[in-house]
Amino acid sequence: MSTTIRIHEFGASDVLRTEDRPTPEPNFGEVRIRVGAASVNPVDFKTRAGSYPRVGADDLPVTMGHDVAGLIDAVGEGVESFTRGARVYAMVDGGYAQHVVVSSGDVAAVPEGLSDAEAAAIPLAALTAWQGLIDHGGLEAGQRVLIHGGAGGVGHFAIQIAKARGAEVLTTASAGDASFLRELGADTVIDYKDQRFEDEAGEIDLVLDLIGGETQERSWAVLKSGGALVSTLQAPSEEKAREKDARVAVFLVEPDGTQLEEIGRLVTRGQLRPVVAETFPLERAAEAQDRLEAGHVRGKIVLTVA
Ligand SMILES: NC(=O)c1ccc[n+]([C@@H]2O[C@H](COP(=O)([O-])OP(=O)(O)OC[C@H]3O[C@@H](n4cnc5c(N)ncnc54)[C@H](OP(=O)(O)O)[C@@H]3O)[C@@H](O)[C@H]2O)c1
Repeated sequence: MSTTIRIHEFGASDVLRTEDRPTPEPNFGEVRIRVGAASVNPVDFKTRAGSYPRVGADDLPVTMGHDVAGLIDAVGEGVESFTRGARVYAMVDGGYAQHVVVSSGDVAAVPEGLSDAEAAAIPLAALTAWQGLIDHGGLEAGQRVLIHGGAGGVGHFAIQIAKARGAEVLTTASAGDASFLRELGADTVIDYKDQRFEDEAGEIDLVLDLIGGETQERSWAVLKSGGALVSTLQAPSEEKAREKDARVAVFLVEPDGTQLEEIGRLVTRGQLRPVVAETFPLERAAEAQDRLEAGHVRGKIVLTVA
C-alpha cells in the first residue's frame, strides 16, 4: 500500500484526506518512483478549491500534486533509459504520495548535490520558466527581459534561466525580496507596491507575466515593437499584439524529461539553484497549501515523504 493525499470534493484545505491506496504498477514505458519529496504549486490549491478549469467534479477523486523527487523502485517493459535505484525527479500527476507512476520520457536524473526537497522544488516551476522564456518567448542572449512575480516558485527559476541565457533581467517583486533576487542574478528589481514598472523598466524585448490582470495590461507600455509577451495565466490581447507587432502566448506547462536534464545541467554548472522556503511532512499537506496560498513565499514549499 502507498500513502497518498487526495480530495473527494472541492473546498478549503480541510478537504485533503490522507489515504492508503494500492501501490501503482508501471505500465509499458513507465517507471515507478518511491517519492522522497514532493513540492506544492498554486495549481494544487486552485485544483483543491475547484477553481482550476481543467479539473472538474467528474475527475474526482484526485491525488494532489505535480512534482516529485525520489528513487525508481520499479520499471515497466520497454524502458531502457532508467533502472531500479536511479535517483530522479519529474513533473507528474499525483505527486503527494509515497509512490507515483510516470512515463520514463518525463523523468531526469537528479543533479549531483541536491537533496530530495531541493530536487522536488524544480520540475513544474522550472519547466514553466523554461518553456515560457525559451519555447514561447524565443529568448535570445542580450535581450532585456521583464519577469513579473520574480520571488515566487516560477519567477525565481525564470530569473536564473534568463540570466544563464545571457539576458539582462528585470523583475517585479515586493521590496523585501530585492536583495534575495539580486543574489539570484536579477539586474533590476522593481517594487511592485511602491514603483510603477512603466517608469523604471525602459524598453523590454520579452515580458514573462506570472501575475495577469492589470500587470499584464500595463506591460504593453514597456514592450518593444516586435517583442514578446508570454503569460502563464491569461491570453494577451491579440489587438495590442498586432499594434506592437508582438509575439504573444498563454501556455500550460508540459512535462519534459529532456528539458529537465538541461535544467539539471544549469544546476551542475552553478547557474541555477532551487530555493526551498519551508518543508512540511506529507501528512501536513493542508498546512503547506495554506502557507503557499497566504503569499510571500520566497521560492518553493516542499513536502517531505517518509
Ligand atoms: N500555465 C501554467 O502552466 C502555469 C505553470 C506554473 C504556474 N502558473 C501560474 O503562474 C502563477 C505564478 O506561479 P508561482 O508558482 O510562481 O506562484 P507563487 O510561488 O505563489 O509566486 C507568486 C509571486 O508573485 C508575487 N506577486 C504577487 N502580486 C504581484 C504583483 N502585482 N507584481 C509582482 N509580483 C507579484 C508574489 O510576491 P509577494 O509574496 O510579495 O506578493 C509571489 O512572489 C500562479 O498563478 C500559477 O498558478 C501557471
